This record gives sequence, C-alpha cells and structure tokens, in this order.
Amino acid sequence: MSSVDLAAYLKDRRTLVDEALERVLPAEDVLPATVHRAMRYSVLAGGKRLRPILVIAGAEAVGGAAREVLPAACALELIHTYSLIHDDLPAMDDDDYRRGRLTSHKVFGEAVAILAGDALLTLAFKLVAENAALVRDPRVLRDVVAELADAAGTFGMVGGQVVDIESEGKTITPATLEYIHLHKTAALIRAALRVGALLAGGAPPAVEAIGDAGRDLGLAFQIVDDILDVEGSLEELGKTAGSDARKQKATYPALHGVPASRREAQRLVARVKERLAALGPRATPLGALADYVLERKN
Ligand code: IPE
Ligand code: IPE
Ligand code: MG
Ligand code: MG
Ligand code: MG
Repeated sequence: MSSVDLAAYLKDRRTLVDEALERVLPAEDVLPATVHRAMRYSVLAGGKRLRPILVIAGAEAVGGAAREVLPAACALELIHTYSLIHDDLPAMDDDDYRRGRLTSHKVFGEAVAILAGDALLTLAFKLVAENAALVRDPRVLRDVVAELADAAGTFGMVGGQVVDIESEGKTITPATLEYIHLHKTAALIRAALRVGALLAGGAPPAVEAIGDAGRDLGLAFQIVDDILDVEGSLEELGKTAGSDARKQKATYPALHGVPASRREAQRLVARVKERLAALGPRATPLGALADYVLERKN
C-alpha cells in the first residue's frame, strides 16, 4: 500500500469513526449537561483515531467489514480518551494541553474531568453490548468484553499507569520499562486488533497472529511517543513536549537514548510486518499502519 493509499484508507475510516462517535455521545444539552459537554469536548477534539481504525483493520484482516465492528471501534476510542483525560490530571502527568486544546480538568475542573472519564469507560461497555446485533456469532461478545476489561484494567492500561507513576524520578530496569509500556499502551492497541478480528469471526490462529502484531505495534507506538516528547513541539503534538523530562518519567529515550530507542521501534515494526505476512494481502493496510506508527510526527 503506497503512502497515498494509506492516507485515503485512514481518511475513510476516520470519517466513519468520527460520524459514529458523534452519534453515540449524548448531546450537550442532555442532562447532566456538564459531563456530556466534557465527554464531547475531549472525544471530538480529534486525535488520530488509531485504536478504532485498528479495530476495523483487525476485522478486515480476517475478511470482515467496518460496519460490523463500528460500535466496538467507538468503544476503544472512548476507553482511550478516558485514559487520556485521567492521564493529564494534576495527580498524574499534570498536563495543560491535549489534542490541541486545554485539558479537560483545565476547562471543566477536576471533578467533572474525572467523572467524564468514568462515563466514557462505562459507555464503552454499553457500545460493545450493542455490537451484538451486528455480529454473526453473539457468543463472541463474552470474549470481547473480557478482553477489553483486561486490557483496560489492572492487567492492562491501569496496571501500566500505576507503575509509570510509581517510577517517576527513579532509575528502573529495562524490564520494568517494558512492563510499563506493554501495559499502559500496548495492551489497548493489541486488544483493538484482537477485538476487531474476534467480532469478524477470525479463526483462533489469525486472532493470535494479529494480537501478537498488536503487542509489538503498541510497544513501538509508545517508544515513538516518548521520542516525540523529546523532539516534538506543542504545535505538532497538540500536547506539551518535554512533559516526560519535567516529571522525570521512565521513558525509552531516558534509559536508552534517542538513537537506540528509534532502532528498537524500527525492529518492532519490522517484526509486526513479519507476523502479518502469514495473513496475506488482507493485512496489507495493517502493515502500512505499522509504518505510519513509526513515521508519525504527532
Ligand atoms: C496518546 O495516544 C497516549 C499514548 C498512549 C501514547 P495517541 O497519540 O494515540 O493520542 P490521540 O488519540 O492521537 O490524541
Ligand atoms: C500515557 O502515556 C498512556 C496512557 C494510558 C494514557 P503518556 O503519559 O506518555 O501519554 P501522553 O504523552 O500524555 O499522551
Ligand atoms: Mg502518563
Ligand atoms: Mg501523559
Ligand atoms: Mg507521552
């Protein structure tokens, strides 16, 4: 897939996702209006929509279609946006900008920001339940719900965030750093791909291969995020650069330096493509998405 094709692929799927998100989020004037405004403020601020696009790409890689997995794709974006709102809170990374605007707590106050995050997480599981109407075998929903709960909870994103916070200002081992990145970021990216493949009726070996690729892709994604925090700007990123150094975060560049971090991200993306090769041409967009993760500037 050429870079031009990838741009069109991303644009098409982003449009589908954005239209669906607009529909599933309660309107701003529905009571309690403040929290609905806060939910829409953060979700509809933009963002790359990588995780919902990965749900769709995971489905497509096993012969499924975007419309079969759209509610679940939205669910992944809602869980992700919840994690961003809470990640930015003063008690966590204490950041002022996200997706090119002030962070939720700066606009709505901490209480509403926390509650908006809680509400997005909860709404996500409702959407997954509603996806039952679109799948060929609704029994697969049981696995999907368990998968998402693990990826978002203490065995996934929350677990990684706990160790991330506990590691501030400390020198940690490479293994602990990998634990943080695999859990805080890769778990949800892996789950996005697996959920798409599961809902589309993918056979177990295909779902495994796609999930393994997602793990590597997620780790590469967070390594690149760490590099961009060193090399990017507020204008490019839509969030404040240098935030990790300020908080003395355990990051790949801090532990290994930028050149070695970049090499590790490249190695992981190469492995993603090897893992996908077994799936044939239907997984071509996923391979192109892996290159995008490496080359992205925001
Ligand atoms: C930011 O994720 C948080 C990380 C896991 C690094 P993204 O870079 O995907 O943020 P958006 O969705 O594009 O805003
Ligand atoms: C956050 O990692 C991962 C999440 C689970 C939100 P970061 O703290 O590095 O994400 P950014 O850089 O603030 O987007
Ligand atoms: Mg953080
Ligand atoms: Mg952060
Ligand atoms: Mg970061």
